Amino acid sequence: MPAIAIIGAQWGDEGKGKIVDLLAENVDVVVRFSGGNNAGHTVVNQFGQFRMHLIPSGIFHPNVICIIGNGVVIDPAQLLKEIDALKESGIEARNLYISDRAHLIMPYHILQDGLEEEARGSRAIGTTRKGVGPAFTDKTARMGIRICDLLDAGDFRKRLSFVLEYKNRVLTRLYDVQPLSVDELCETFAHFRERLAPFVRQTDAIAREALSEGRKVLLEGAQGTMLDLDYGTYPYVTSAVSGAVSLGLGMAPTSIEQVVGVFKAYITRVGGGPMPSELHDDCSEMLRERGHEYGTTTGRPRRCGWFDAVVGRYAAEVNGVTGVALTKFDILDTFETVKICTAYELDGSTWKKPPASSELLERCKPVYEEMPGWQTPTDRIRRLEDLPRQARDYVRRIEQLIDCPVSLVSVGAAREQTIPVRKIV
Ligand code: IMP
Repeated sequence: MPAIAIIGAQWGDEGKGKIVDLLAENVDVVVRFSGGNNAGHTVVNQFGQFRMHLIPSGIFHPNVICIIGNGVVIDPAQLLKEIDALKESGIEARNLYISDRAHLIMPYHILQDGLEEEARGSRAIGTTRKGVGPAFTDKTARMGIRICDLLDAGDFRKRLSFVLEYKNRVLTRLYDVQPLSVDELCETFAHFRERLAPFVRQTDAIAREALSEGRKVLLEGAQGTMLDLDYGTYPYVTSAVSGAVSLGLGMAPTSIEQVVGVFKAYITRVGGGPMPSELHDDCSEMLRERGHEYGTTTGRPRRCGWFDAVVGRYAAEVNGVTGVALTKFDILDTFETVKICTAYELDGSTWKKPPASSELLERCKPVYEEMPGWQTPTDRIRRLEDLPRQARDYVRRIEQLIDCPVSLVSVGAAREQTIPVRKIV
């Protein structure tokens, strides 16, 4: 039952889209199991450059079934936009299935996201304001509206009327904004129903059946471990680690055979919250400009820093990473020296694991190891042994520090700009 999970091992934006697009060639099913359209996966292939937010990056392979699992929160307008944009580039979302159990991001969630951020003031999370957090809140508060509710106009109106009565009280009394109208929402969602109904399936059953038939299933994680609600830098978090797969898709944890941890060769973060190896100097600018480190979803400049091996080892342990995909390696090509954060120093003691408290992590000082740079372009290299010695040393040192073997090194956005090290699929 070969399921392979692709997990972000830092603060998101590690380049998971490219890795999924690459591996999807050899699998039968690709599944998104968490997050929402806060995610932004950039894929560059023979069809062009795409920014995927909800649709699994396997969609470019015509024989691959792509599933948006029940663990994802879906903004129907955004999903339709993505389906239409793909169509314009000649890609039909013929094999796209949406879980009937997935929750909807409703217009009031998007409103709430903005209003809550404003209310947080200087303690704002820096969310993408796409309504993802409020939709997940309502899911656990049992106030959510699901895709299966959308399918029947009568049931949808009943459910929405019940929920909206409460939501409108919050909007008008707490935030002093105009209430939303049930009729208007029903009208908008009638259009979504018509267009999305053909894609809806019991996707958990489809995934389990595929696994029992021995077909290969690739699980496309969104965001990163340090943004996980439990294991990340709470409260500056969203979702989800590899353990979320069972909940977000409906398969047993034992189905996962491999966990590929995607790590950028340096580190970035977008939004608020602690980041011990963040740089505020020329190196930061160089990383941002060379790596085009601007948010795929919001366009915000990403915060940049050196590879954080404390985060790296922690993420590898939490997710049970079996192999590392080291991405954007070529971005480091011009640096005279490169640094790796090997530990944190806090009030005179050394930390090898990130503390749970974001307040403490904020005060952690990075302990660096400095290595010579390779100052040679690597974007055309396709074999590990052809990398300059200093670059190989850097790869090896990361393997040692996070105690996990590297499976591939990515040296550019295109599929072929990949150095395979160990077979994944
Ligand atoms: P939300 O998911 O929009 O609620 O945002 C919560 C935090 O997660 C913010 O710091 C966002 O910038 C961050 N975040 C959400 N999605 C992504 C992503 O795909 N990549 C990187 N950061 C993300």
